[in-house]
Formats: sequence, C-alpha cells, structure tokens
Amino acid sequence: MSNESEVPPKPNRAPFYIAESDTNIQNGNAAMTEHVRIFDTTLRDGEQSPGFSMNIDEKIRMGQQLARLGVDVIEAGFPIASPGDFEAVRRIATEVRGPIIAGLARITEKDIDRAADAVEPAERRRIHTFSSGSDIHLEHMLRISRDENLRRSVKAVQHARSRVEDVEYSAQDTTRADRDYLVDLYTAVAEAGALTLNIPDTVGYTMPHEYEELIRYIVERVKVPGVIFSVHCHNDLGLAVANSLAAVRAGARQIECTINGIGERAGNCSLEEVAMALRVHAKSSGIDTGIVSTEIYNTSRLLTSITGVPVQPNKAIVGANAFAHESGIHQDGVLKARATYEIMTPESVGRSSHKMVLGKHSGKHALQDRLKSLGFDPTDAELNAVFDQFKILADKKKEVFDEDLVALMAEETDSVEAGDDWTLVSYSVLSGGVAPEATVELRREGGAPVSAKATGDGPVDAVLKAIRELTGRTIDIDTYQLKAITGGTDAQGEVAVSARLGGRTMTGQGRSTDIIEASAKAYLALIRRAASNNMAPLVMRSEP
Ligand code: KIV
Ligand code: ZN
Repeated sequence: MSNESEVPPKPNRAPFYIAESDTNIQNGNAAMTEHVRIFDTTLRDGEQSPGFSMNIDEKIRMGQQLARLGVDVIEAGFPIASPGDFEAVRRIATEVRGPIIAGLARITEKDIDRAADAVEPAERRRIHTFSSGSDIHLEHMLRISRDENLRRSVKAVQHARSRVEDVEYSAQDTTRADRDYLVDLYTAVAEAGALTLNIPDTVGYTMPHEYEELIRYIVERVKVPGVIFSVHCHNDLGLAVANSLAAVRAGARQIECTINGIGERAGNCSLEEVAMALRVHAKSSGIDTGIVSTEIYNTSRLLTSITGVPVQPNKAIVGANAFAHESGIHQDGVLKARATYEIMTPESVGRSSHKMVLGKHSGKHALQDRLKSLGFDPTDAELNAVFDQFKILADKKKEVFDEDLVALMAEETDSVEAGDDWTLVSYSVLSGGVAPEATVELRREGGAPVSAKATGDGPVDAVLKAIRELTGRTIDIDTYQLKAITGGTDAQGEVAVSARLGGRTMTGQGRSTDIIEASAKAYLALIRRAASNNMAPLVMRSEP
C-alpha cells in the first residue's frame, strides 16, 4: 500500500509540459536540440499507392505546403517512371523553395541522369539512388550476386556524385538482409560519396527493438565521417512510427515519412505522428525536427482534399476525434485543467477546434487574411472566385469555419483540363413518381448551357445519369463517400467518388451544403481527372 505522506520519486526526465503554455511545441526547439531531418516522400512513395495519384498542379500545391511545413527534403517523384513524373519533379524543383528537392533513381546511369536533369533547377538538389540489400531481393528480383550489387551501387553513387553534390543511397529490404553484408555495402557507397545512407524496412517486417539493434549495428561499423543515417519504414504491422523512433535512439538522424502515413500497401511512417512524438518529448530527449507543427493540420487537409481519401476519425494528430473528449470524466478533467487529459493542444498542430472565423458580413480582406494564415496564397482571380463562393456559403450557413475555407480553396484550385471542363449550372429533382427524375444543366468553358433529364434509383443516381448523357462520359464508380466538413446540419458535405481506370485509382471530389450538388461536382471532377490522365474513351468502365 502506498503511503500518502511518501515523497513521490523524482522523474528521471524533464517535467511533463503542456503545449498551450509553451511556444516551443509549435516552433521547435532548434536552439537546444539535435536535429532529425524530415524527408517527406508523400509525392513519391505516397503518390504511387492506389487512390493517391495527383496531377502536376496538385503536386506543386502539396510541395509548396510541405515547404511551409518545414520539411528538410521533398522526394518529388521518380523521374524515369514517365514523362509526367519527370515534368512534376522538374516543376517542383523550379517552383518550390526551401527544402532540398530529391529525385529517385535505380542504380543505372539512365535513371540517374533523368533524376539529375529533373532536379537541376532546384536551389538544393539530391539524387536518391536505390538497390536492394537482402538475398531474397538480389536472387529473385535483381538476379545479381551480392558482389555485383555492391559494385553497381558504388558505380551508381560515383555517377550520381558527378551530377550533384548531395547523394542518398538506399538498399531495400535491409530488415531481412545479412547485417555484415549491409555494413560492407553501406561502407562502400559512403566511400564512393553517398552522404545519406538510408536503411529501409521495405516490407514493414521489423520490430522496434530489432530495428534499433540493426541501425546501431550499422551506425557503429560504417565509419565514414559525416554521413547521415536515415530510416524508411513501412507500416505493414502498424509499427512504422515506433520503428522510426527506435532508429532515432540508435543514431538515425533522418526519417522518411509521408503526410497521413500514405504509401505502398499499409503506408509509410506518418509524418504528423513521428514529428509530434519527437516534439512532445523534445525537452527530455534533446532531439527534435524543424517541423512547423501549426502547419500539420492544413497539410493533412490539403492532401485529403486533393486525393479525396479521408483519414480515419481516430487517427492520431489529424483524425476528427484526435482531440475530442467524449467521456464525462475526461470532459470534467479537461474543463478543470487541460493537462489532465491533454498532452498537446489542437492549436499546436494547427487545428482551429471549429472556431467561427468569418461571417456573412466579412469582407474580401478578412477572407484573404484568413486564407493566408491557413497557408494559402490565392491569386487575385482565385480570391475573387473564392470570395463569391464564400458569400453564397455564408448566406446558407450561420458560421463559416476554417475547414469550410480550406474546402472552398480546394474547390477553386481543382485543376480544370481543357476539353472536359464541364461545370454544373443547375439541377432539380422531382421525387413524386416511382423513380426520381432529375433535370441537369451543364456548361462547358465558352459554350452555351445544355440540359438533360434522367430518372434513377435515387436523386444522386438520377443526376449522375443526366450528367453521363450530357458529357458522353460514363465512368463506373467503385466507391462513393460522403462526409461532413464541419459539425451541424448546415455543414458542407464533401463527396469523393473513385474508379479504377488505366491501372490507377482516380478520385473526384465535390463540396456543397447540398449533397446532391456535391455528388454532381465530384463526378464532374472525376471526368476532368480521367481526361487529364489521357483516359479519353467515351465510356470508361472501372477495372476489376
Ligand atoms: O520502401 C523502400 O525500400 C523504398 C526505397 C525506394 C527507399 O521506398
Ligand atoms: Zn518505401
């Protein structure tokens, strides 16, 4: 039994602290901590996974937001993969300032030259070249011996160094590889000029204690001065964040991660989780990143609004419930003192707790200021268009939240492709008969409005049928998701529809306080996206 008069043991770490009263949680602890670099691969490992493909303009928007978030490196893509990938990396290298811009390349001269050309316009550029480290990969996939792999890797790094100063080398599948071979391989590529040595858990197989040992083993034996050890964890066992943190304990000083943890299969290490874990514990560990935590939520929202793929409500940091206290005991505690059940505030990660920010009497300047503080920099034309939409929304809704503004901006900046830029002029649905009948009016850029009628199983089905008739585009929808952007019955609804086309999952989204209108906009956005990816046929059947 504990004795109440007993003095509690002194904690062996700095006292627990609360974000609200500590600006370090938002701005980082650069002056007093060791820096862990954040290498964001949302636009490469994330973008290549099903449902997350982005067009070039969307990639630029994400890249600019990642720069505001304060990531150290943006892996912008895999330039050899396609002309579109090359162009996207090159435009990010041209237009995004701040972070190092990296391009991925296999260990061939052709890949490396393509990556070098793509990142060339960047202020600071990196080539990330990769091979494999495990016998499973070498025997079955690359079909080369360990020696041959080492020889080619060294040659590739030397070639990459002839094109850029900053070269990173990765050997895939290190967690199922022979440790001593890895030491030889990483030593050889570091001596050849690789400045960052990335040690990926490609298949998401390892456990935190095991990964920590592996990283320590390599860090202690690869004795090349100045190299940075990096980690890249996949989440197949839900351990990507834990494994990355374990690697930092062993000396890794770069973490590769993605927004919302997107990526191959179960995804990559989630940036927001790993960055906040390091930030919340920075005082006691002496280790932190340069992430501007107040930009985290905007970045997560931007990605979900571009891709139409929402995050689960209970996701740490960015999920809808991440800061919601539901139980009576918790609510009572938080009302008395936030520290009782909160380890960080929603504001510290840029969440507004649905504060009302603007009302129907707010002017254009107020809107512009608010958009700027949310990380947007609209052009005059975008601002005017968003202001018009804002006025319509403010008439319909009592309160306009930050989340609504992010949705309006996303709607406005959705890229419109010439030739398939249909917009919804109006629609109406008569539901009195056996099946609802929709009348839909659409307009194409520069053209006169056209209208059609159709009946369907429900109002959404009827409206989409009329759109199919007018546009001549029939896309079979695989998934239809509707979610409320904020609380309340007057909330804007966000509809995301997706279909598998040309081997890729494509998504279109629409937003409105009227869910039928949001559904129509989402379908039109999907048509635009399919057309912008050269899915030109008139009838687009979703693939199995
Ligand atoms: O998972 C992996 O190993 C990769 C490499 C290309 C770093 O994505
Ligand atoms: Zn990966």
